[in-house]
Amino acid sequence: MEIKTCAVIGAGTMGSGIVQVAASTACLDVIMNDIADEFVDKGFNAIVKNLDRLASRGKLTVAQKDEILGRIKKSTNIEDIKDADFVVEAATEKLDFKLNIFKDLDKTCKTGVILATNTSSLPITKIAAATERPELVIGMHFFNPVPVMKLVEVINGMATSKETFETTCKLAEQFGKTPVEANDSPGFISNRILMPMINEAIYALYEGVGTEEAIDNVMKLGTNHPMGPLELADLIGLDVCLNIMEVLYSSFNDSKYRPCPLLKKYVDAGYLGRKTGKGFFNYRRK
Ligand SMILES: NC(=O)c1ccc[n+]([C@@H]2O[C@H](COP(=O)([O-])OP(=O)(O)OC[C@H]3O[C@@H](n4cnc5c(N)ncnc54)[C@H](O)[C@@H]3O)[C@@H](O)[C@H]2O)c1
Repeated sequence: MEIKTCAVIGAGTMGSGIVQVAASTACLDVIMNDIADEFVDKGFNAIVKNLDRLASRGKLTVAQKDEILGRIKKSTNIEDIKDADFVVEAATEKLDFKLNIFKDLDKTCKTGVILATNTSSLPITKIAAATERPELVIGMHFFNPVPVMKLVEVINGMATSKETFETTCKLAEQFGKTPVEANDSPGFISNRILMPMINEAIYALYEGVGTEEAIDNVMKLGTNHPMGPLELADLIGLDVCLNIMEVLYSSFNDSKYRPCPLLKKYVDAGYLGRKTGKGFFNYRRK
C-alpha cells in the first residue's frame, strides 16, 4: 500500500515532533489527533514555532512553511483517521490507555494499515494482542527532539510480520531517520542500556561518591558523553526515568534494576527536572 496519509495519535512532545517530520521531511498528509482541541493546538503551535525558527535562519521559505502546515489536519475524533495509510501512536505512556487506543484504531483503520507505537517501555506484543491485526503492529521508537534526533528503534512484537518491519523501516528513512532493529524486550535496546546507567549515576550521588557536577563532568570529559547522566535525567524527566526503571525492575524481576531511593525521593518531592524547574540541577531563574 502506498503511504500518502499518516495519522499521529497524541499531539504532545513526541506526537508534534513526529507530525512535523512527516509533513516536512516526508511530505505526507498528516492527521494530528488528540483528545481535546487545546492539546492539538498546543502541538500545532509548537510546530509553527519550530518552522518559524527555521525560516528566520533562512532554512525554509515562508511559502514552504505554509505548504508544510497545509498538509496537517487537526483532529479530535478517531473517525477522522479512517482513510490513513499508516498510524503512529504517541499518546500518554500508560498501558491501559494504549490498549484502548489500539482497539479503537483496529476498528477504525482500513484493512492492511500498519499501527505503530512510539512507546518507550511497554510490550509491543501485548499492545498488538489488543487488535485483530497483530502482524501489522510494531514499535516505532523516536527520540526527543524528533526533528533533530536521527534514530528510530524499530521493534518487532512476537507476531510482527517481515513486511510490516520493512515498510516501517522505509517510512523511518522517508522521515530522514536511521532505523535500527530491536526485539520486544523491556526497555528495548536504548532504555535497557541508558536507564540503568542514569540510575547508577543517581546511586553514585546517593552514596556520596561524587557531587552532581563531578559525576556529570567525569562522564562528559572522561567518556565523551555530550551531556552528563544527571543533566540528561533532568532533560528526560525524573518521573519518566523512574517509570522506565520500574518497568525494567518488575519485568526482569532482577535487583540490578532497582530504582535508586534518591530518584524516588526527587519524584515524590515534585523535582522532575527541567519541566518543573528543578531536578538534580536548578533551572529556575535566580
Ligand atoms: N518524551 C520523550 O522523551 C519520549 C521519547 C521517546 C518516546 N516517548 C513516548 O512517546 C509517547 C508520548 O510521550 P510524550 O512525551 O509526547 O507525552 P506527552 O504527555 O507530551 O503527550 C501525550 C499526549 O497524548 C495525548 N493522549 C492521551 N490519550 C489519548 C488518546 N486516547 N487519544 C489521543 N491522544 C491522547 C495527551 O492528551 C497528550 O497530549 C509515550 O509513549 C512515551 O513513552 C517519549
